[in-house]
Amino acid sequence: MSPYERYSSSNSTVPVVDNRNSNVALQDTDEIFQLPLGVPLIDTPNGRVLYITRHGESMYNLENRIGGNPSLSNRGQQYAQKLGQYVNKNLKFDKVWTSELSRTLETSAHIKDIEKKRIMKPELNEIMSGIFDDLSYEEFKDQSPIEYKERELNKLTYRYPEGESYLDVCSRIEPVMSEMDTGENLLVICHQAVIRCILARLQRTPAIEIPYIKVPLHSLLKITYLNGQNTVEVIPLNVACVSTYRPKTDPTLLSGLGDSKLELKALTKVSSELKKTSLESPKINTNKLKADEREH
Ligand code: F6P
Repeated sequence: MSPYERYSSSNSTVPVVDNRNSNVALQDTDEIFQLPLGVPLIDTPNGRVLYITRHGESMYNLENRIGGNPSLSNRGQQYAQKLGQYVNKNLKFDKVWTSELSRTLETSAHIKDIEKKRIMKPELNEIMSGIFDDLSYEEFKDQSPIEYKERELNKLTYRYPEGESYLDVCSRIEPVMSEMDTGENLLVICHQAVIRCILARLQRTPAIEIPYIKVPLHSLLKITYLNGQNTVEVIPLNVACVSTYRPKTDPTLLSGLGDSKLELKALTKVSSELKKTSLESPKINTNKLKADEREH
């Protein structure tokens, strides 16, 4: 059982955080916030380098849409070409892992000998957004304001109806994590939510911060394990793109959605709790990240 399944399985021995039909957001005193992420890194060799990137900008990224199986935009195609050039010139990968979705396959297309190196992993598919797949965030909010609010309040544990939560994704990726811990010459091309879970697992990020880790498009992440910790260097490949980062919403701004006296009371309490929680992503090379954000 992965460290996450304890919290998401219905057979759990600790109280399951079931956010469905709940009006209350998690608080930073809840046990889930202290979730120890990942197993000890004893098997990771000193100096192990792993590369990860998101797919290139997709047509859905342009429209602020969730999930689906869109193709790359023109700029996303440019990123795929740039990635291919960069990898072919500077790096040597024995294996390139992608998800099963078109946008990651398209992103891998210009890497030399890709057909021999590519392995599709269902574990790397983007978080499943269930009945809200393909909607824009605005459409999601308009069509199901209560569900939207539930997710904004408890993004870590919110499970899309017929879909997944971040904790589900953290469990799902566990079987492929050991190879990322120890493997060499591996490039992983996948998706925003999945990479957040991978980075959190590699860097011991507190669980509550996972859904807010910044993972810019059109950048390669170089993850080096040295002396007991993984550090992340962000290498922007300088192809313009949208930002898909969505900061945490102030809970008080959600009070108009499906409000009730009880709900407002809970939200006020949650608001003050959340202000105590730092959402900075640790150990990311922030200088490079800021430069990247300026460019985009
Ligand atoms: O917006 C791009 C995307 O990969 C979506 O497909 C996915 O639903 C989303 O990111 C996950 O990010 P968040 O949890 O911030 O909604």
